[in-house]
Amino acid sequence: MTLVAGIDSSTQSCKIVIREAETGALVRSGSAKHPEGTEVNPQAWWDAFLQAVEAAGGLNDVAAAAVGGQQHGLVALDAEGEVIRDALLWNDTRSAAAAEQLILEYGEAEQGPAAWSRMVGSVPVASLTVTKLRWLADAEPQNARRIAAVALPHDWLTWKISGSTDIRDLATDRSEVSGTGYFDPALGQYRYELLAQALRISQDQAERIVLPEVAEPSEQVGTGDASRGWGELVLGPGAGDNAAASLGLGMSTGDVSISIGTSGVVAAVSPKPIQDPTGVIAGFSSATGEYLPLAVTLNGSRVLDGAARMLGTDHAGLAELALASEPGANGLGLVPYLEGERTPNFPHATGSFVGLSLTSMNPQDVARASVEGLLCGLADGLEAMTALGVPVNSIQLIGGAAKSPAVQQIAPAIFEREILVPEPGEYVADGAARQAAWVLTGTPTPPDWTASLVQTFTAEPARFIRERYAERRHLFAERS
Ligand code: XUL
Repeated sequence: MTLVAGIDSSTQSCKIVIREAETGALVRSGSAKHPEGTEVNPQAWWDAFLQAVEAAGGLNDVAAAAVGGQQHGLVALDAEGEVIRDALLWNDTRSAAAAEQLILEYGEAEQGPAAWSRMVGSVPVASLTVTKLRWLADAEPQNARRIAAVALPHDWLTWKISGSTDIRDLATDRSEVSGTGYFDPALGQYRYELLAQALRISQDQAERIVLPEVAEPSEQVGTGDASRGWGELVLGPGAGDNAAASLGLGMSTGDVSISIGTSGVVAAVSPKPIQDPTGVIAGFSSATGEYLPLAVTLNGSRVLDGAARMLGTDHAGLAELALASEPGANGLGLVPYLEGERTPNFPHATGSFVGLSLTSMNPQDVARASVEGLLCGLADGLEAMTALGVPVNSIQLIGGAAKSPAVQQIAPAIFEREILVPEPGEYVADGAARQAAWVLTGTPTPPDWTASLVQTFTAEPARFIRERYAERRHLFAERS
């Protein structure tokens, strides 16, 4: 039996699944927690990875591994391969002003966003690595000057597993690099002039910075660290977590996934690159050679965590309360920008309950409004996707919050479509494992693994909830 490992180095934890390469059958797994916060020492990811490996029974009998990881985080390395400062994660919003500056530097009004979407497929927001580099150049110039290589969380971890300390061995894949803001997904090339612009250095200096080699979707990028007994372990290029999840779900053109984890992500597989000058949709690449346009909200399952906490209950209790209310929560709505928001781009916004009345001021309506608000934010992303001509034939709901009966039952009313809910699973780690198996087979497409069981949910469409939400969400733009 040939074994492959898929690693999900996510915001919250490191998870490892070890699967049978041919069938995808789960053999064993392990996980370990990551520290909280939006600024994290990458060493913590490495420590968690080693713990997770141990919990998963080791890698010594595993033939290939690949890493899926939280996207965009800035891992700045010096010439010796040492981490220069704690990594700034995708959900760190301190570079919001830097994002605005970078856009303006390419023109006023619509010009700047249009130029960026043409150059890199996305309009910068605080999540993108390029904005973090600009923040570093201005706020910590002494650190910015030491940069010899720029990695992202997943490619840094792959490189650590290889045991290399040579920054020239760094490798990545199309999906991850398409989220940096200095790579053109349509042409498949780094844009060093944007790296130079972000760091306020010359193009020559930027070209001397080592950026990870961009591997093909099933290309081997190295082997494991022999000193740890992993010398025979074949390493795949890995992927950004959203691309890894879509590989894990076996998505193809027309399939959409809506993932409600720490972030809320609407992802669709598209055969052609997507450029959205409004910035709602980020034009990323997939892990299979296609494209993966995304709409990403910062406020995912934590909206439900917060609502449950406020109501003194847990997730099951929150779902029960929400389902005891009615569509529209008696006029109460939540605009859930609790941690600022990225889509729409209101980095400093806060959330608001709107429409409180004596009728709606009760736990059931508060719970319902929380679920509906979370889903309305995601429905806006889905609508922007269809408006760009991205095909949407089926929608799968995944991530921690997809387990909530309230989310499952209310989602089809808000999205006005049937919703498929696959069995709960580690789809990012599974996608990484499937990539590892693909690297071993070398076939044109990834190996066919048994699809998971899927439940289908339908509901009466409730367009009025979204219409009311649309009137309310922009009340918060001025305050952001
Ligand atoms: C995608 C994004 C998030 C992170 C979460 O653009 O920022 O989905 O990848 O891990």
